[in-house]
Amino acid sequence: MAILPLVILFILNTSRAQTWIKAGYWYTGSEFPVPNINSALFTHLICAFAYINPSTHELFLKDSDEPYVSTFASTVKTTNPSVIPLLSIWTQNGYYGNNESSSNFLKMAENPSYRKRFIESSLKVARLHGFKGLDLYVTTLLSTKGNMTNLRPLFDELRVAVDTQNLTLTMGSHYSPENDRLSYPVDSVRRNFDWVHVRSYDYYTSLNTNITAAHSALYDPSTKVSTDYGINEWIKRGLPARKIVLGLAYHGYAWTLVDPKDSGIGAPAKGVAITRDGSVSYEYIKKYMRSYGVNSVYNNTYVINSCVIGTFWIGFDDVEAIRTKVAYAKKKGLLGYNVWQVPNDCKWELSKVAAEEGKYSHHKRFLVITLCTICFIIVLLGCIMGYLRRKITSKVKQMTHKGKSSNHNQEVLSFDDIREATNSFSEVNKLGEGGYGPVYKAYVLWKQGIGMEFIDPTLDDTFSRYKLISCMQVALLCVEENWAQRPSMLEVSAMLRNEYASMPMPRRPAFSTNKYEDEKNFGAIDEVYSVDIATISHLLPR
Ligand SMILES: *[C@@H]1O[C@H](CO)[C@@H](O)[C@H](O)[C@H]1NC(C)=O
Ligand SMILES: *[C@@H]1O[C@H](CO)[C@@H](O)[C@H](O)[C@H]1NC(C)=O
Ligand SMILES: *[C@@H]1O[C@H](CO)[C@@H](O)[C@H](O)[C@H]1NC(C)=O
Ligand SMILES: *[C@@H]1O[C@H](CO)[C@@H](O)[C@H](O)[C@H]1NC(C)=O
Ligand SMILES: *[C@@H]1O[C@H](CO)[C@@H](O)[C@H](O)[C@H]1NC(C)=O
Repeated sequence: MAILPLVILFILNTSRAQTWIKAGYWYTGSEFPVPNINSALFTHLICAFAYINPSTHELFLKDSDEPYVSTFASTVKTTNPSVIPLLSIWTQNGYYGNNESSSNFLKMAENPSYRKRFIESSLKVARLHGFKGLDLYVTTLLSTKGNMTNLRPLFDELRVAVDTQNLTLTMGSHYSPENDRLSYPVDSVRRNFDWVHVRSYDYYTSLNTNITAAHSALYDPSTKVSTDYGINEWIKRGLPARKIVLGLAYHGYAWTLVDPKDSGIGAPAKGVAITRDGSVSYEYIKKYMRSYGVNSVYNNTYVINSCVIGTFWIGFDDVEAIRTKVAYAKKKGLLGYNVWQVPNDCKWELSKVAAEEGKYSHHKRFLVITLCTICFIIVLLGCIMGYLRRKITSKVKQMTHKGKSSNHNQEVLSFDDIREATNSFSEVNKLGEGGYGPVYKAYVLWKQGIGMEFIDPTLDDTFSRYKLISCMQVALLCVEENWAQRPSMLEVSAMLRNEYASMPMPRRPAFSTNKYEDEKNFGAIDEVYSVDIATISHLLPR
């Protein structure tokens, strides 16, 4: 029993020691004020993006972004000093929003002196603005014509460089490590990056399909385009789950339905709705649904929510989908989740749900189960003790009756009887209400010299009185709070044999709610009031 608290502490410690990433992107173009970010809900906040100059191959900030990016790190830290700010690097040609190739990036990666310039300038920008790491955003590399083998030296050199500066290095990747043509160099990714932010969304947009679809489907029964498929592929290709961070989308896509009555996933549509490209933030979707009094429907086959407003169909992640995905990440042993993008949340609803679900780790669940089992065991032990108590009390009665009927001048109790009796005392006492159990009562009576009141009247007899009172004193010594002060069995036998030996005076027994009045202020004594110490006296009778 004494091991149980240690086991619980161990479990608590291991679950606390585990890192769990709650990351989120903030994109400069969102126009969402950085001071409004609720940093307390995140462990990492990623500022997107810094760009690579195609001719000098150096990292730079857009002029219009500069004021925000340069103050990002210090601003997010004001609400949560322990949040870690990272700077994300855009690797496609041009700026974010253009669907262009990454040819410039690949060209840089193939040339040693270009790489050097890129790496040195990147570290400089990060250091200058207080970022604690870099995020290489290469989510679209698979859709460009190129040779990813040539990325290996870049990744290796980046690792060496960030290590000298104590920076974190992460990657923003495609949902799957490969397509039918190309593959990320997974061995190099595993070696060089602290973890990978998997972009598990935007599988379909209303701009490029005319069928309603789950753009961030966790599962898809009919195709390979799903988060679960991608994550499994990454793991199969050699990236450990502990290096994978699941992407969560705080946006959806809106389609115009051909027939509002046909509104499932895969229903025919005729182009985008609501916005020019059909993408809609969670905040806007919530407002839209509220103003039309519509609720979202959760489909747990795909793990996606959707709503129909007139002829519009919107597919997005609501609270249920987010919760299920975070639970999935936990269950799969992933490192955490990463939100694209933080400003799209509605009153931090999704971020709170995600953070909350993340707390319920497998370890915690395991812990809850363990604690329930322990409680059950304790209750069971309580029942056993209750039984023992009845049994032992009746035995003590028998014993004393035995003593009464035999010669009063003889030793009436054996060692075993005494031990059993003292054990029964501590057990009986533990069961007493509010800590003022029978042993405490016995102690008070014994101290007042009227200990016999504690003994069943039928057992009272002028001849055995002294003996019983000494037994009581011995018993009280045996339940001393401090085990070192409890007598050994040898001492007990000596005390009982020699009636005139000066016995130590017992102090107030252990296992009572109140401490010694005179030692009330010693906090260190607290730990003694545990059930487990009582069991020690069973194992090591003294
Ligand atoms: C970019 O465009 C190509 C075709 O134009 C398309 O196949 C690809 O999926 C697009 N990539 C993204 C990320 O939208
Ligand atoms: C990629 O480049 C490496 C060496 O630079 C070469 O061995 C490999 O064949 C190339 N792969 C493709 C698909 O071009
Ligand atoms: C590097 O980071 C670790 C913890 O993140 C810290 O203990 C250490 O002091 C840092 N070293 C330098 C040189 O900044
Ligand atoms: C999810 O949507 C698909 C396609 O509309 C449908 O076949 C399936 O029954 C739905 N599942 C649930 C649990 O609603
Ligand atoms: C979807 O349908 C609309 C209307 O029929 C059409 O204009 C548009 O080009 C279609 N989009 C795609 C991606 O096929």
